[in-house]
Order: sequence, then C-alpha cells, then structure tokens
Amino acid sequence: MVPDPDLPAHVTVYEVGPRDGLQNESAVLPVAIKAEFVRRLVGAGLPVVEVASFVHPAWVPQLADAEELLVAVGAPEGPAGPVQMPVLVPNERGLDRALAAGARRIAVFASATETFARRNLNRSLDGQFAMIEPTVRRAREHGLAVRAYVSMCFGDPWEGEVALDQVVGTGRRLLDLGATELSLGDTIGVATPGHVGALLQAFATSGVSVGMLAVHFHDTYGQALANTLAALRHGVATVDASAGGLGGCPYADSATGNLATEDLVWMLHGLGIETGVDLDLLVATSVWLAGHLGRPSPSAVVRALHPAPHASTPHARSVP
Ligand code: HMG
Ligand code: MG
Repeated sequence: MVPDPDLPAHVTVYEVGPRDGLQNESAVLPVAIKAEFVRRLVGAGLPVVEVASFVHPAWVPQLADAEELLVAVGAPEGPAGPVQMPVLVPNERGLDRALAAGARRIAVFASATETFARRNLNRSLDGQFAMIEPTVRRAREHGLAVRAYVSMCFGDPWEGEVALDQVVGTGRRLLDLGATELSLGDTIGVATPGHVGALLQAFATSGVSVGMLAVHFHDTYGQALANTLAALRHGVATVDASAGGLGGCPYADSATGNLATEDLVWMLHGLGIETGVDLDLLVATSVWLAGHLGRPSPSAVVRALHPAPHASTPHARSVP
C-alpha cells in the first residue's frame, strides 16, 4: 500500500471506550472488569486511553468508581512503552480528585451551545468558562496536559445546526485558558464531511494550528468514518474512537455510539497510515467486553472479523 501524500503518515488513536463508551451503558461494570478492559486496550497498542471520569458521581453513576479504577489500573506499559491515561474532569472538585488519584493528564469539556451547557454542566454558556478557567489554570500549574472538548460542534438536538463562528469562538476561549489540545465533538453524530471541512477551515482562518486539533465523532448517522477522512485531509492527526463502537452522552438523548476504534483502525491501516494498534487484539477485547455487557458490539469491523458462531456466510479476511 503506497501511503497517500495528502494524508498524515501516522495517526494517534485517542481511545475513549472506558469513559465515553461505558458512561452510557445501562450495566455498571465491576471495577476489576474495567481495569482489565484498560489493560487490554493498552496491550493492543492504543497510545492514549481516557480511563475514567471525575464528574459528579450522581450525574454519571456508571463511572463513580474513578479513584478505585485508577488504583486497579496502575501504570501499564504498552508495546511501545508508557501510555497516556487522561481522565475527564468538569471542575476544580473533579481536578482535586484526579490529582489525588495521580492523574497526569486531564480533559475538560465545554459546550458550543447554551442549552447543552445547561443540561450537561448545569451552567450557562458563559458560566461554564468560569468553572473551567480555574480548573485549567491549576491543572497547568501542576504540569498536567489539558485536552478540552467542545461538544455540539455541528448540531444540537435543541438548537439545531450550530454556527461555525460559535464553535470556533468556544474553542478559542478554551485554548486561551491554556488547553493544550482541542477535541471537536460531534456529540449527536449529525456531521457530514463537507461540514467537517468547513469547520476545520474556519479554525485555520482564525489562526488555530491544526496540530492542536483532534476530532471526536459519534456515529449516529453512519458518517463518522467519512468525517474522519475529511478531517485527515485537512491535516488532523489525532482521532478519538471507542473500542467496539460503544458510547454516547447520558445528557443528550440522541447521542449514540462513538466511531468504533476497530472501524477507524481498519480504514487507517488500509490507507497505509500507522497507528501502532494491533487490530486482532483490539477485536478480541471488544468481543470479550461485549460478553460482560450482554450485547454484541455495534462495530462493523468487529462483526466482520468475529462473526457470531451460527453465521453461515464465510467471511473473507484480509487485514490491510
Ligand atoms: P452542580 O450540581 O452544578 O455542582 O453540577 P455544584 O458545583 O453546584 O456542586 C454541588 C455539589 O456537588 C457540591 O457538594 C460539590 O462539592 C459536589 P456539597 O458542597 O453540596 O456537598 N461536586 C462534586 N463531587 C464530586 N466530583 C465532582 C463534583 N463537582 C461538584 N466533580 C457538575 C455541576 C459539573 C458537577 C455536573 O453538572 C456534572 O458532573 N456534569 C457532568 C455530566 C457528564 O459527565 N456528561 C458526560 C460527559 S461529557 C461528554 O460525554 C461529551 C464528550 O464525549 C464530547 C462529545 O461527545 O461532544 C466529552
Ligand atoms: Mg463523546
């Protein structure tokens, strides 16, 4: 496979399964299973695994065991050495908990829309920045890297399509606060490739380097891979995904699973782009986890590479 010179040679796959994936599951997994999930992801070569969430435990009970989980996970090494294990943090209380648990990288999150800021963070659009500002400042003073998510970058279930300048304005405010990376979230999965290109162009025009940007697609309308390819063509080289295609946001009803990591890795390897991820180990991890969740993985690649035992059609397999 000859790599396409217009695409990055290497992509960092930012795995969000243990956080975005499990936060939306009705089943609450025991901490030992979550820790094993993280260890398997690390063993499969994922370089970044967002492991836990230090939001209010009553808001997301599925992830209320963050402290315990960090102890259980320890500091596993991947095939290429140490991995980064960021945790989601909404405010200073969450930061205190994350620091006490030994986290070295956090991710804060803001909404590009007023309605979702109120529903997800219990703050107005402006009020969310008053909460995030001291969180980012103190995290940076502690030497932590800080990713910032912008949610509802393309559409919002209550407000409809979101204006490009509203998203760019939100993102720039987060960078001005000291965020070291911005992840552009299609929380409800309504983006299409042209819209992705227009948003990335708007960020570029406003002076934000594409090296600061990651993309975070949910796959509600089946557009996540096409959107990712559009983002790669604009120079984005960090892509969020969730093993097995789990995911969603409990505070946005129309949010469904994230782009499946297996689907992403299949496409990237097919394009000759390096990820460091072992697809077989990853598929085995999602099949193992599906057993604990009691439902099959929604990922097309997991289903193709690991068909149900009674499936009669033989599946041709050629991992790119
Ligand atoms: P609030 O009720 O306004 O909180 O919730 P508060 O600041 O008024 O505090 C009330 C009490 O909660 C206080 O205790 C605080 O100490 C405590 P009291 O003094 O009454 O005893 N408290 C906490 N306790 C533990 N951990 C904390 C914490 N914070 C306050 N961190 C809050 C505001 C932000 C806490 C709440 O709205 C919240 O936790 N929201 C999180 C919602 C969430 O997790 N959503 C899903 C993640 S975002 C997502 O999935 C999108 C993403 O994937 C990107 C995309 O797809 O677009 C990232
Ligand atoms: Mg998400």
